[in-house]
Amino acid sequence: MDRTRCAIFSTTLKASPVSPAASLLERYQQVRQTTDRLCSPLAPEDCVIQSMPDASPIRWHLAHTTWFFETFVLKPAIAGYEPFDPAFEYLFNSYYNQVGEQFPRSQRGLLSRPLMSDVHRYRQAIDQQMVELLAGLDSSSTELLSIVELGLQHEQQHQELMLTDVKHLFSCNPLWPVYESREPLSPRPAAAIDWLPGSEGVREIGYAGDGFHYDNEGPRHEALLQSHEIASRPVTNAEYLEFIDAGGYQRPELWLSLGWSVVQADRWNAPLYWQQVNGEWHQFTLAGLVPVDRNEPVCHVSYFEADAYARWAGCRLPSEAEWERMTIDQQVPITGNFVESGRYHPAPAPSIGEGSLQQAYGDVWEWTSSPYTPYPGYAPPPGAIGEYNGKFMCNQYVLRGGSCATSQSHIRPTYRNFFPPEARWQFTGIRLAR
Ligand code: AVJ
Ligand code: FE
Repeated sequence: MDRTRCAIFSTTLKASPVSPAASLLERYQQVRQTTDRLCSPLAPEDCVIQSMPDASPIRWHLAHTTWFFETFVLKPAIAGYEPFDPAFEYLFNSYYNQVGEQFPRSQRGLLSRPLMSDVHRYRQAIDQQMVELLAGLDSSSTELLSIVELGLQHEQQHQELMLTDVKHLFSCNPLWPVYESREPLSPRPAAAIDWLPGSEGVREIGYAGDGFHYDNEGPRHEALLQSHEIASRPVTNAEYLEFIDAGGYQRPELWLSLGWSVVQADRWNAPLYWQQVNGEWHQFTLAGLVPVDRNEPVCHVSYFEADAYARWAGCRLPSEAEWERMTIDQQVPITGNFVESGRYHPAPAPSIGEGSLQQAYGDVWEWTSSPYTPYPGYAPPPGAIGEYNGKFMCNQYVLRGGSCATSQSHIRPTYRNFFPPEARWQFTGIRLAR
């Protein structure tokens, strides 16, 4: 196998100035502590409910991310490894058929046991073994170290899912629980949209480098880009309200057939979490129910809504190749409104910086027109870990750029997130192209 082309076995470790295992140990502790910190506003009662099949109880996320290290690091590394609890292999295996059978995803909210306290003990026990293991490793254990790196990236993905799943759970409660209150930003009007010309012709996309990346970001390959322009910022709530007020949700000609079916079946008339209070649009946030801020990027729309909005606006969605080339050609820095800001909500575009791409990173994941399919020459890595990304390459769309719930250290220009076209509970928004 060509290791240089395989995400699982390539990490930033080579370039690290301190002992690779030592710096990974430090990151291990940081990432695990971040998970705990994200849970600190929650009570045990908040952590055991599953509000819909797509979402999982917080307790399940806490156990599953721990199961990942136990299954893919400790078991292979330690001869005669004794599992913390043999039942956990089944309960907290998400979808790895090569590991074994799984407790049904849609029933994760039916388990009152193991208790939260059991899962905390599970995390502590695995942490202790991981710390001991990492302390005894040196840089020659490249395969093991890269699985640890994958486990950390995996836990960062679940940190984002914990926030989106708690948001969905709290949105089902008429008390509108507050996960964490936040200071309102001083009002700032969104900058006007500039249309930025994209590069045209045969261009390369996909990961090139020797840092960590997921397998689905490669191989690097050529893509054909037509003449196009990309909007300098995402679509705002004010712009999306025009679509609503123009009867966007009542006009089948604007919608893909599958999307129109969902609009009718689920009676969609606005983004997820929007509701009218005394005739004014409000939206549920992790800081409670607040009036819709017209200048923020529209959030919690499906691919179907993004596509219908773009059609109504006389535009289209960018392809993932257009998105990736634009951010790389413009050398857009990976800064923005990420989970580290502690706001857990998108913010209006800064009014400075016209003529450049704004909010490409952070705030909202941007739906692209690209189906989530393998790049030419892609093959998943061998073994159970090969089930991580590759087997989901059907009936989903690629999203780019990260959101206000993503860790800044987790995102890259080549990062491919993916969700089915009807999904709305992630922090997903719209950037137009034409
Ligand atoms: C890339 C966000 C679609 O939610 O299943 C978590 C992330 N992969 N555990 C998902 C993931 C394995 C994945 N998404
Ligand atoms: Fe997972």
